Amino acid sequence: MPKIFVTRQILAKGLDYLRQASFELDVWAGPAFPTQSELVAHARQADGILCMLDDKIDASFLEQNQHLKVISNYAVGYNNIDVPMATALGIPVGNTPDVLTEATADIAFALLLAVARKIVDSNHDIRAGRWHDWHPTGYLGMDLKGKTLGIMGMGRIGMAMAKRCFGAYDMEIIYTANTAKPAAEQAFGARQVDFATLLHHSDIVSVHSSLSPQTTGLFDRAAFAQMKNTAIFINTARGAIHQEADLAEAIQQGRIWGAGLDVTNPEPMSPTSALLALPNVVVTPHIGSATTWTRNEMSLIAAQNIVRAFRREPLVGFVNPQVYE
Ligand code: GLV
Ligand code: GLV
Repeated sequence: MPKIFVTRQILAKGLDYLRQASFELDVWAGPAFPTQSELVAHARQADGILCMLDDKIDASFLEQNQHLKVISNYAVGYNNIDVPMATALGIPVGNTPDVLTEATADIAFALLLAVARKIVDSNHDIRAGRWHDWHPTGYLGMDLKGKTLGIMGMGRIGMAMAKRCFGAYDMEIIYTANTAKPAAEQAFGARQVDFATLLHHSDIVSVHSSLSPQTTGLFDRAAFAQMKNTAIFINTARGAIHQEADLAEAIQQGRIWGAGLDVTNPEPMSPTSALLALPNVVVTPHIGSATTWTRNEMSLIAAQNIVRAFRREPLVGFVNPQVYE
């Protein structure tokens, strides 16, 4: 029986699928997550791994685990994995696209509304006993109707966010992407622009791209300085795409208006982060895909990826199909 190391407790759907397909499972039991050496050691005793987006499947891990038959990431993003090295070692790498698109776009949209209408800041005030009267100038937020949405990375999740904002608010949609997206142009009249235009023209910039050398640290002091001082920055993709200190400074100095983050840099965010002291900032703990349906479907796809890899069939979410060539 091939053995799979599952690096956290995940929802049962995929685990049941693997057991039915006669895999033996080593499911990490601890409430604490495995250390890097525990990760390496358990993987060495397994034939494949089902791992999380914060497990470092780097060159050192792979050097010690060249025997693996599959690396199945429980996420759509896979920046935690050294994919070129896994490919060179002949190891198929899987991810879980599509099923988390709507849930993640919901978090981006929810963060936008929460920032624009001061949902979290005003709620804090109630809890702290600071709601005394109805004030005509209290908690003044921002209207969203007719605003310009700048999507960085018009993939599936970017499309789903654009659809929400176009449908709800007739927003004008501009985007950056590696290739033109005719579907977005047809559905929302979206226009592809360069990064500088995205920064200059957007009332809301929402990040939906993957983390790569090109996107790491892209939203820094210089980028925020080019945005409107009324702009809202939303990031539900990867925290390392923005520089946290630069973002905090930009909001403190009024160079942009606010931010909604489901991903932070670093992750987890420090409770003493300057961002958390700012009323126009809303932060959630990387919960884009956190619905029961979505996490169960991710669990199933991650399991199907494993079964298919053992049959040398294309994975459902296949990061490195060239590995079979
Ligand atoms: C979540 O961030 C994912 O990549 O699935
Ligand atoms: C990737 O995150 C995508 O949804 O395109």
